[in-house]
Formats: sequence, C-alpha cells, structure tokens
Amino acid sequence: MAGQSALLAAALAGAVLGTTAGDWRPWSLVAALLGLAFVGQFLSVPTGRVRIGPAFVATALAMALLGPAPAAAIAVAAMLPWSLKARTPRPLLFNNVVALTTYAVAGGLLFKALGDPGDAAVAELSTVLIVFAVYLATNFLNFLLIVGYLCLRDRTSLIAAVRDVYLPVVPWEIATGTLTAATVVAYQELGLVAVAMLAVLLVSYRHLLRSVVAVERQRDELREQVEELEALHHGVIRVMVETLGMRDRMTARHSAAVARFSRATAAAAGLSVREQELVHTAGLLHDIGKFTFPDHTLTGVRLTEEDWELIRSHPQRGADIVRRVRGYADVAEIILCHHERIDGLGYPRNIAGDDIPVLARLLSVADCFDVMTARDSYRATIPIEAALAELRRVAGTQLDARFVEVFVGVVMGSGMDFRHGDAGELEAELGGRAGGRSAYRPSRR
Ligand SMILES: [Fe+2]
Repeated sequence: MAGQSALLAAALAGAVLGTTAGDWRPWSLVAALLGLAFVGQFLSVPTGRVRIGPAFVATALAMALLGPAPAAAIAVAAMLPWSLKARTPRPLLFNNVVALTTYAVAGGLLFKALGDPGDAAVAELSTVLIVFAVYLATNFLNFLLIVGYLCLRDRTSLIAAVRDVYLPVVPWEIATGTLTAATVVAYQELGLVAVAMLAVLLVSYRHLLRSVVAVERQRDELREQVEELEALHHGVIRVMVETLGMRDRMTARHSAAVARFSRATAAAAGLSVREQELVHTAGLLHDIGKFTFPDHTLTGVRLTEEDWELIRSHPQRGADIVRRVRGYADVAEIILCHHERIDGLGYPRNIAGDDIPVLARLLSVADCFDVMTARDSYRATIPIEAALAELRRVAGTQLDARFVEVFVGVVMGSGMDFRHGDAGELEAELGGRAGGRSAYRPSRR
C-alpha cells in the first residue's frame, strides 16, 4: 500500500511537471480519445485471466498526441465507471488506478523525451518506431503493475504469469501497437478522421477476437466432454473386466497377460499407438463371452460335447456384449475373430488369411502363447522355448506367420517380463488404462 501510494505520488508529480497547458488541446481530441477509451473498456474481451481491448490504444494515442496528464486522466476516467459498476474490490481498484496512472505518465514522458510524435518535424518512420516501441514497453509495464500486485497478493509466480498470461496476447499487442503507430502518423494528415477510422477498425477487430475466443472456449468444452465420455467408457470396460475377475480369476489373469503381450507385439510390429491400445483393450476383453457360462465350464474339467459347443460360442457372445458399448465396434470385431485360423479352420466364421482382422491375428498369437505357458491353464504347461517352437510350427496354418516372428522377437529380445504374474496383473493392466495417458480412444462411429 505504501509502495503503491509512493508510486502514485511520483506519477502525479511527473504528470504535473511534464505536462503543459498545450498538452490538453485540442479539446476535441481529448474528448474523442476519452470516448474511445470508455467504449474500449466496454468492448474488452476476456481471454483467460486478462481482458484485452481497445482502451489501451486510446491511452497510447493520448500519450503520443497529448501528454502525460491527459493520458493518465483518460485512462483512469475511462476505467472508473466500469470498475465501480463491476464492484471491483477497493484494494484492487486502487492498484488499477496506480498502474494506469503510472504507465500513462511514463509513456507520456517517454514520448516527450524521444521527440513529440505530434510534431510534424519528426520523420514519419521514426514516429512509427517510437510509438510502436513505447506502446509495447508501457503496456508491459502496465501488465507488470497489475498482475505483479495480484501475484504478490496471491503468492503466485510473476514469471509464470508472464509466460501464461502475457505471452499469448503478444500478437494482439503487436497488432494494436502497429495500428496505434499508424494512427499517430495519419492524425497529422487527417485529424480526428484518423481516430474515427481507428475506432471502426478496433470494433470490427474486437468482433473477430471475440469469435476466436468463443471458438476456443467451445473447443475446450468439447474436449472436456470427450474426455468425460472416454472416462465413462473406460469405467464401463473396467467394471466388465473386474466383474469377470471376481468370478473367474484364471480368465482375468489370462486376459491381462494377453493384453500386455499383444500391445508389446503391436508396438514391435510398428503399428500405430491407436492400434496398440485397441489390441490391448481387446486383449482385456477377448474372453468376456465366457462370463455367461456355467461355472464348471470355466475350470475345463470333464467337459461334454455340449459344453465345448458353448465354449466355442464365446467369441460371438463376447463381441455381442462389447459391441453394445458405443465406439467399441473395432474391439468387438477383434474379439469375434480371435479364434479364427489363417487356414480357415477356426471359428465362429471360418474366415481365412487376410479376411481375419489384422489385430485379431496378432492377438491370437499372444493368446496361444499364454494358454501354453500359464501355470493356471487347464492344459499342461510347457516351457517358454517349447511354446515359441510350437508357435512357429503352426505359423502359416493356425497363426499369422508375420506376427509369430514379431512375437518371438519380442519374447526373446526385449527383456520384457514374460513370466506369468499373480492376481495383481489384471489390476496393473487396468491401472495403466485408467491413467488415461495412452488409453484406447473409442472410435466416434
Ligand atoms: Fe478365447
């Protein structure tokens, strides 16, 4: 408060000492700039934490064409009614008065020191450069005075504020600085007509700016909605997999392993991040169709021909369930085809070769490997080396030979942990998804 008062006193002293009676003339220009500043406050557009608008242009013109005291008077007089109407808190209002007075007087004095731009004797180019430079410098000073106070009050970083709040509006400052410089030069020829043209330009520019800001806001809202929808989707999938895990730990662990192996294989095969996440999700859900089966079929002990018939329906059942989640048609398609074979002898559709979706062919490799090597599998487990040899043996008939080789390469060379984890494995795979960092985004179809 004491610092602000001292600054205000210094600015007022500078205004008194640096201003002559002639600086207040012509009165028509004082009135025009006051009007422009007043309307400019009204037309300002909030962008993030600051409002930008034409009021600064009016003040800058007053600094250049009038003098320190008229510039400060115009800046404060234009701001006060709006601040009072908005019930700006007193300390903040006082700081705004200090900031506007200080920067306007500083600008006015700078113009006097560098050569009066209103003086026809000063060359046009140097006028433009001086106005432009003083405009940018004083605006930054104003920003520091206003935001610096807020940073002190809220104990936040001024450097961060400059980076996050000031730098994004620099293009606007450059544009209005150029406009101000051009208007100062034009004023010497055209008088108030130049100010009127500037006003028209600023109003239409402000209209454009508001549209841009509105579009950005809509984009942010839309992004938020999409993220919420994705979180909802992931929640639904998570509930499905966790429910399966509660009923059948073996299938849940297997699903987590297949998801992990499939993503690693997809990455090694050079597939896109989206495909990697897609096949990971499909891995988690590929046996979800078994959820509907009676308990004894899950253990795989003493199954009848009818039981096998039922088990063979799990790709279709799983796909039917997952397809109901909007945006998961691609995942459902992989689930439907994960027991198809390259030679066409698989099920349920008996499709062959390239007719089988690429990611279903990839997932089949991981699926077979895990069934062969998992401790909890209902078949006898075999060592990893033997399992890889078996994958190679059936490459080209049962499995896609390309993905078998990629998979073998991943297991042999990656150092990835292909031992079978415990019950926590499912949680780890779901956790990776819930983080959302690289989670599969449902297609918008
Ligand atoms: Fe399966």
